[in-house]
Amino acid sequence: MPHLYDDEPEPLVDPGPGPAADPDDGLAADPTVGPGVGPYEGPWPSEPWFDPELLAAGDRRNVLDRYRYWRLDAIVADLDTRRAPLHVAIQNWEHDFNIGSIVRTANAFNVGAVHIVGRRRWNRRGAMVTDRYLHVEHHADVDGLVAATRDAGLTLVGVDNLPGSRPLEPTELPRACCLVFGSEGPGLTPEMVAACEGLVAITQHGSTRSLNAGAAAAIAMYHWSRRWAEVTEPG
Ligand SMILES: C[S@@+](CC[C@H](N)C(=O)[O-])C[C@H]1O[C@@H](n2cnc3c(N)ncnc32)[C@H](O)[C@@H]1O
Repeated sequence: MPHLYDDEPEPLVDPGPGPAADPDDGLAADPTVGPGVGPYEGPWPSEPWFDPELLAAGDRRNVLDRYRYWRLDAIVADLDTRRAPLHVAIQNWEHDFNIGSIVRTANAFNVGAVHIVGRRRWNRRGAMVTDRYLHVEHHADVDGLVAATRDAGLTLVGVDNLPGSRPLEPTELPRACCLVFGSEGPGLTPEMVAACEGLVAITQHGSTRSLNAGAAAAIAMYHWSRRWAEVTEPG
């Protein structure tokens, strides 16, 4: 059993060619603007993961250099070979702008899936189309999330500054877990709290009551990665 309750501190964009961008992306439509590379120079590579449209027009997406000119589905398939046993879930009651930010961070940590609980429509602003590279699942209610994560063998861990929360910093999160975040305003609902095996809170040192959910999620995912993720060179 992971050490979620141990008392001892643990040493613990981009669309380019392809489907149309979400109007909330905030991305420039001009393919010559932004980071990336221009049209492929020299004889075109023949591997099936290369996209002829990108090779011809250039690749301005916000992707790692190793994925330049790759088809979207080929990138997703490659990511699928090394998804983390970490999932994240977000309670979506408020069309919260933080959700896009959480999704973008979840992509950076290559989580197994993002679970949206509550309203199906979620605020994509801030995701910068990173959701296309992720598996995003919708659950109408807490029971749906509980069933999905139980089937996947994940421990549900609520992340919120609530009575009964343990400080995140000395806590070793379970390797296979789903971190659950609340909406701006209400935070985690009592029903969600009851469904979680434990609660962790990020220690704050100033005067504000809480972080925004996007910042809290980034800290919590990073905390998980410090213990469980492989460290690799950037790029
Ligand atoms: C603005 S907070 C919600 C309300 C919060 N429970 C309060 O008492 O003010 C939105 C979400 O951000 C996350 N969050 C914010 N501050 C946090 C902290 N210090 N520790 C853990 N999670 C935090 C939680 O997931 C929370 O549900």
